[in-house]
Amino acid sequence: MAIDLRARTALLLLTVGFVFAPVMAGPLAQDGSTSTAATSAAASAKVDATASSRSTPPGTAIASAHALSTDAGMEIMRAGGNAFDAAIAVSATLSVVEPISSGIGGGGFFLLHDARSGRDVFVDARETAPESATPEAYLDAKGELNRDRSVNGPWSAGIPGLPAALVHLAERYGRLPLKISLAPAIRIAREGFPIYARLEKGYATRREVMERYRGTRAVFLADGTPPQVGEILKQPDLARTLELLGEKGFDGFYRGDVAKKLLASVKQEGGKWRADELAGYRVKEREPLRFKYHEWDVITAPPPSSGGVAMAQILQILEGWDLSKLDAAHRTHLITEAMRRAYRDRTIYLGDPDFVRVPVARLTSPEYAAGQRASIHPEKALPSELLSGQPAPLEDDETTHFSIIDAEGNRVAATQTVNLLYGSGLVAPGTGVLLNNEMDDFALRPGTPNAFGVMGFEANAPKAGKRMLSSMTPSFIESKDKVAVLGAPGGSRIITEVLLGILAYDDGLDSRQVAALPRIHHQWMPDVISAEAGALAPDTVKALEAMGHKVNAAEQPWGNLQTVAWDKASNTLDGGTDPRNPVGKADVLLAPAR
Ligand code: GLY
Repeated sequence: MAIDLRARTALLLLTVGFVFAPVMAGPLAQDGSTSTAATSAAASAKVDATASSRSTPPGTAIASAHALSTDAGMEIMRAGGNAFDAAIAVSATLSVVEPISSGIGGGGFFLLHDARSGRDVFVDARETAPESATPEAYLDAKGELNRDRSVNGPWSAGIPGLPAALVHLAERYGRLPLKISLAPAIRIAREGFPIYARLEKGYATRREVMERYRGTRAVFLADGTPPQVGEILKQPDLARTLELLGEKGFDGFYRGDVAKKLLASVKQEGGKWRADELAGYRVKEREPLRFKYHEWDVITAPPPSSGGVAMAQILQILEGWDLSKLDAAHRTHLITEAMRRAYRDRTIYLGDPDFVRVPVARLTSPEYAAGQRASIHPEKALPSELLSGQPAPLEDDETTHFSIIDAEGNRVAATQTVNLLYGSGLVAPGTGVLLNNEMDDFALRPGTPNAFGVMGFEANAPKAGKRMLSSMTPSFIESKDKVAVLGAPGGSRIITEVLLGILAYDDGLDSRQVAALPRIHHQWMPDVISAEAGALAPDTVKALEAMGHKVNAAEQPWGNLQTVAWDKASNTLDGGTDPRNPVGKADVLLAPAR
């Protein structure tokens, strides 16, 4: 089977023009069954089923961006938890070991499948704008966007949503008390974990901002020097905050001592949050967005994420062609043209559906996709400036994602974030809580690109209590034979990462290959195809240029896709962690024989 798969994959890669990065040579060559996970960059695990029933998976699979968070999830499964308890453990542990990407000072989206009820639900724990965050508050004297305010310190931070999500998961879906599921994260925060390269490098990038704030210095300069690879980072205040959350639930974070310290710190640094804005924060349960692509049901993120709408547009536009029959240049051309059109609509129409009318039904309808498809010339790029709207620049790749399937058939796809590297850089003294800089995801100045080079207008203007537009796209795809759970960080590139992941599953790749596959991206503005080095062969680039595309063919790798899948036909589980991130881990734990 491994040989067949490799041969098929090689054929597919030739067909689509993607070339595996060198790192794939190892894992592909080692394809086979193991009972536990690898912890390396190309980690994956595949377990043959021993259970006779194929109606539920043979165990639990977890993929996340750090080995300690994957292990924390498995620890909670062994303690009798389900996928939702494990999600709490993974999420909270990522907050401890990956402060560069997400944390309880930030927010996230949790897409759940509850096997008992058969229901899919989208738990929206996106941050909300405080009342002080008017558009004028982010403009300088000349009326330009004040970028220091939009990405650094207290004004850049929205009211956190992640702690409320953890409480919600425990109360509504978990089997274990919150404090049990939080125990691994609390232990790791208190005992510490080894700093790895990405944390050290990210700190160097954000050092000036991080060292502005007393609370941040207390955590990251505790020994007087910036974090260095191999040192142990201990976060006793964060351990205590997590403990309070475990003991008191919602009030442990949003009221009482922690809330007082958060409010005092924001005030001390010149920002304005009110106690009732913290105490009034609520997660929202939303209906996920659903559509069909080939034989797959895609279940994904609705607004205030832009991801599901954009993917529905792109995939339904692409359904008009048999991509597997096209050469690499034409395949990339059509994918790009579909991306261009979807990102243009994102800019204009997407925002928090509780505040603006987002025309989801129209944008995601097959009829609209057919119209968009008809506007695509099979041989020529359409310059983005001719697709009405206005211009912009580019990226960053923080945020984090994890994927879980358990033996009962529950699933979690969760993407969580503090936005840019180390969020706002502001840790509230005595809490260990690093606040997000998610306010930059609003269109703080209409038509001015944010840190990801995407912009927006009225639909995504800031307003008290409103959630800023996101690209986070936690997703499930399900066919007769397979279920996959996937998602990724990467700012505005999240959507295209997940999209390429879905196309790769549709092409028959396994989870490890899906996580490793080289990436391309187009976001309408700037009008350029971004490609990782090796993603497009030189003659493909030439052919695309001849069609009128501008191609950046050798960009640094981006993203950190985490995915798990259950193959119902063979009753096997597998997981793929992105090889671009050497500390990630995919793992499979077999359930005891039933
Ligand atoms: N902060 C990245 C996103 O939500 O899209």
